[in-house]
Amino acid sequence: MTVHFIGAGPGAPDLLTLRGRDLIASCPVCLYAGSLVPDAILQHCPPGARIVNTAPLDLQAIMQECLQAHRAGQDVARLHSGDLSVWSAMGEQLRRLRAEGIPYTVTPGVPSFAAAAAALGAELTLPGVAQSVVLTRMGGRASAMPPRETLAAFGATGATLALHLSVQQLAQVVAQLLPHYGPDCPVAVVWRASWPDQRIIRATLAGIPSQMPDGIARTALILVGDALAADGFAESCLYSADYDRRYRPQSAESEWAGWSPADD
Ligand SMILES: C[S@@+](CC[C@H](N)C(=O)[O-])C[C@H]1O[C@@H](n2cnc3c(N)ncnc32)[C@H](O)[C@@H]1O
Repeated sequence: MTVHFIGAGPGAPDLLTLRGRDLIASCPVCLYAGSLVPDAILQHCPPGARIVNTAPLDLQAIMQECLQAHRAGQDVARLHSGDLSVWSAMGEQLRRLRAEGIPYTVTPGVPSFAAAAAALGAELTLPGVAQSVVLTRMGGRASAMPPRETLAAFGATGATLALHLSVQQLAQVVAQLLPHYGPDCPVAVVWRASWPDQRIIRATLAGIPSQMPDGIARTALILVGDALAADGFAESCLYSADYDRRYRPQSAESEWAGWSPADD
């Protein structure tokens, strides 16, 4: 018996990995975080599966479900939105499973920041503009930020920021970032990225609070940085015609001449 943690993606039911889909189909028990995992993904569960929305459960009750399945020898599909590596509460569940000696696997999913970037048609790391993406959030009622993880500290780098769980604190986000990014820095808020009712609000950092329509709460990402609107950036070396590289040696004297993928 194994508990399979599966990243269920940002919302569109077809943004699920094939491995995730097949695991869901193979498990007689499915525990899903119902606040963000769409019902359509549950259609992959086998007929007769026990399907439990864990949104109203506490950790102890979720572990009881796993223990019950363990005793019955039934595999469990454990679904969380997006990818499991960020803000999934997987860590505390894995710790308890390890303590109980219950085996588990982890299958990644499409994270919401990637779905938001796709919705914007944006590459978040443009040559000479930004080469880092910071996935972060404002502190909330349930989650204080570690003292050194401030927006000011991240903003001082000029990296592209992807702010999760923070749209309700947009005014504070703007106030903290203005000294670092300036009023004209491009911002996009993507609400329910990849859902049928997805919405995108583009503005400047100074202008975004007044541009926000009513009803944009909770499931939204705030993306900030010059990469969102840059056009005059340098092209990467990756596809540059005269850049000497392993896959495209420029001459017989190149250190890569004669190299083949099998040499790696
Ligand atoms: C508990 S976190 C889960 C993050 C998730 N594990 C991931 O990989 O994106 C929930 C937050 O992620 C963001 N989020 C999740 N799904 C989203 C979507 N489809 N569109 C925009 N933001 C989303 C929002 O900021 C939301 O408040």
